[in-house]
Amino acid sequence: VALPIGRMIGPMNELAKAGAVTSPPVEPFQVPLPIPPVLKPVRTDASTDYYEMVQREATAEILPGYRTTIWGYEGIFPGPTIEARSGRQVVVSQRNELPVPVVTHLHGGVTPPESDGYPTDLILPASSSHDANHGTGHHHGGAVAHGTRDYVYPNQQRAAMLWYHDHRMDFTGPQVYRGLAGLYIIRDEIEDALPLPRDEREVPLVITDRTFTADGDLYYPSLDPTLQGQPGVVSSFANGVFGDTILVNGAPWPVLDVGTARYRLRLLNASNARPYLLALDPPPPNGPAFIQIGSDGGLLETPIPHDEILISPAERFDVIVDFGQYPVGTSVRLVNREGVGPTADVMRFDVARREEEYSEIPDRLAPEEPLPDPSEAVEVRRFQFIAGFFGWPSTVNFRIFDPNRIAARPRLDTTEIWELHADPEHPIHLHLVHFRVLSRNGGPPGPWDAGWKDTVFMRGGSAQIIARFSGYRGKYVFHCHNLEHEDMMMMENFEVV
Ligand code: C2O
Ligand code: CU
Repeated sequence: VALPIGRMIGPMNELAKAGAVTSPPVEPFQVPLPIPPVLKPVRTDASTDYYEMVQREATAEILPGYRTTIWGYEGIFPGPTIEARSGRQVVVSQRNELPVPVVTHLHGGVTPPESDGYPTDLILPASSSHDANHGTGHHHGGAVAHGTRDYVYPNQQRAAMLWYHDHRMDFTGPQVYRGLAGLYIIRDEIEDALPLPRDEREVPLVITDRTFTADGDLYYPSLDPTLQGQPGVVSSFANGVFGDTILVNGAPWPVLDVGTARYRLRLLNASNARPYLLALDPPPPNGPAFIQIGSDGGLLETPIPHDEILISPAERFDVIVDFGQYPVGTSVRLVNREGVGPTADVMRFDVARREEEYSEIPDRLAPEEPLPDPSEAVEVRRFQFIAGFFGWPSTVNFRIFDPNRIAARPRLDTTEIWELHADPEHPIHLHLVHFRVLSRNGGPPGPWDAGWKDTVFMRGGSAQIIARFSGYRGKYVFHCHNLEHEDMMMMENFEVV
C-alpha cells in the first residue's frame, strides 16, 4: 500500500455524520486513578541512563469488564514514565514489535535531529523480513531502522514534564490513539530545592478521550472505510477524532482519594484533538481552583492563579490544588467546561482524610531568565494554519507537508519572531525550541500563555512567538498538534543552519 490511508479516507470522512457509535456505558468515578509506573534503566554509567522499551500489542482492561487491544510502550497505556535529570543523558532503545512502522518523538525535548523522531525516520517492525507488506509506503529518504533504534536525549534543559509519543508520518493520529504515548519527566536542583508537594502528592494526569466499540475495542473512525457516510462515525476528520469516554492515565473517569493538603497535578492533554476547559466543582471556598507553577517548558518565575485552564492537545500545565480547603468527605470533580454530557467530566478527587500540610508555594519559583529580546530578532516569519474541509487537506501557508521542502532556515543561536495565524483552531507545536508568546492579535498574551511553551493553542486570530534557535543544527518539524490535522499534512520543516 503506497498511499497513506489517512490522506484518502480523511476527506471522505467529511461526509460522515456524528453520532451513532457510543462507547459501552461506564459508571464514572469508580476506577481508582492509576499512576504510570516509572521505568528502570537497564544500566547506568557516569554520564548516561540506558533504557529499553518494547512497543507491542497488548490487552488492557480499560473499561471495567472489557478487554481492549492496545498498542503500548512496554504494552501499557500510557507507557512507563521516564524520570530524567537535567544534564544527564538518557538513551532509550525502542524496539518495534508492532505490525506497523513507528517513530518515537520526545515532545518538548531539546534533541539532536537524528534522535528527534523525524516523521520518516521509521523503525520497521522487528519481526518482518517482509517489510514491504506492512504499508510502509514511500520513505522520503528518512533514516529507516530495522526493528530497533536508540534515541539519545542529552537533557541539556531545565526541569519540565515532557512526553514521548508516536510520530509516524500520516499515521500519528491512529497510532497515538491506540496507546503510543507516555511521560518523560526531567528534574533539576532548582525544582528539588522548592517546598512543593511531592511523592504521592505529585500526581501526573494524562488526559485523553477515546471511543470504544460494543465489545470494548478502540474505535478510530477515520480508519474504518466501511463506515463512510453511514451512521456511526463519531466525528468528522476536519475537526479531528473526538472520543466520548474521558480517560485519565488510561482509566475512565477515575477517582483519587486525597488528604486535606496541597497536591501538585501535572496535567498533560494527550488527546488527539480535544481541548479541555478544566475547572473544579465545587470550587474551593477561598482562592482560585488552580495555582499554575509551570508550563510546557518547566517552572514559571512566579505562580499564577486560575479558576479554569484551557489545555489543548500536547500542552502541559503544572498546577497546585489545595484540597485542604475542603472538609473531609467532599467529592471534588475535575470538570471540562467545554464538554457535553459525559465529556463534561474528567475525574473526581475524594477528600478522604485529614493530613498535615508540609508544602508551600513560594512567590519565586524559577530564577528570572532573560527572555529573548524582540529587538534582537533577526527574522520575522509568518505562517498561516488553515484546516482542510470537504476534501481539502490542512495546510501551512497553503502547502501540504513535504519532507523535502524547508520552510524556514533559522541560524543557530539567533532569535526569530514567528507570527502564527490559525483558522479556525489549532494547537501549534515547534520541535527543538521553547518559545514565549509575545502577543495575541496585537494585544497582550492570553491567560494560559505564561512561561516557556512548545505548543500554543490558537482559536483563530494571530499570535507572535519568539524563540532562540539553539541546541542543534538540523531539520525539524513544526505542525498542528491536532493529530488528524497533522496527518492531513498540516506540518512543515525548519532547518537550523
Ligand atoms: Cu508532540 Cu511533533 O509532536
Ligand atoms: Cu490544526
